Amino acid sequence: MDHEKMMQILHDVFDPSLPALAPGDSRSTRRALETLYGPELAGVDKGSRVLDIGCGNGRQTLRLAAELGCPVLAVDNHQPYLDELERRAVAQGLGELVETRCAEMNGLDLCGEAFDLVWAEGSAYVVGIGEALQAWRSFLKPGGALGFTELVWLEDGAPDECREFLAMEYPPMTDVAGNLAMIRDCGYELVGRFALPESSWWASYYDPLQVRLAGFEAPDDEEFRAMLDMIRREIDTYRRFSRYYGYVFFLLRTRS
Ligand SMILES: C[S@@+](CC[C@H](N)C(=O)[O-])C[C@H]1O[C@@H](n2cnc3c(N)ncnc32)[C@H](O)[C@@H]1O
Repeated sequence: MDHEKMMQILHDVFDPSLPALAPGDSRSTRRALETLYGPELAGVDKGSRVLDIGCGNGRQTLRLAAELGCPVLAVDNHQPYLDELERRAVAQGLGELVETRCAEMNGLDLCGEAFDLVWAEGSAYVVGIGEALQAWRSFLKPGGALGFTELVWLEDGAPDECREFLAMEYPPMTDVAGNLAMIRDCGYELVGRFALPESSWWASYYDPLQVRLAGFEAPDDEEFRAMLDMIRREIDTYRRFSRYYGYVFFLLRTRS
């Protein structure tokens, strides 16, 4: 399947109306912010600027704006997601704080704009973690912070079926130690990390996605059918083998 066709199918399935486009939830986003800024977020400078990369339809963008009360620049390369984010921001009284920009995150050029916090929930994999950590330093003010989530192995001993599926779906996947090594090598300090709860995979991501998948029935297009099967298999793999892998939130600061 060519790339354009694959993206067209993915954009059809992962519709902007979905609550979120990756595992995550408001409590985890808040917990990540508290890891960086303290329990009452007392360490946040109200003049801060935030950059949310691969924001999608903005589940976490809206939390960042609401929790921090700071302007957030939200970047994604699919305009319909940004349109939906803008609509939700206005509906939640956050329209003044959220600015969107349709751009490629590979080679992202922000013309020297500097941010206090760079955020990427479920999206740094697009660039690759090592590459993202290096490239995104240039967007951070000295001492700035970075938060990202990444799919990692949590436990050894995953059955072959699980390992083989994930090796096919996400070949660069490694464990927490592998990510910590990249973090250190790229000149960041780890402030904290935690695994997202299993509920954050289901409530705002897989459960609504399954409802959407059911609505497609059996499309004529063979490639579309194959993609739906793959997504169903992904969900089933997580249902059966979630103890072995998950998303981990990594919270970092640049070393000054
Ligand atoms: C798995 S979704 C996560 C979205 C959102 N952060 C969330 O957690 O709901 C990944 C996002 O990255 C965006 N994306 C993928 N490739 C991109 C690229 N090359 N440049 C910019 N955005 C990209 C997608 O459009 C999608 O919105």
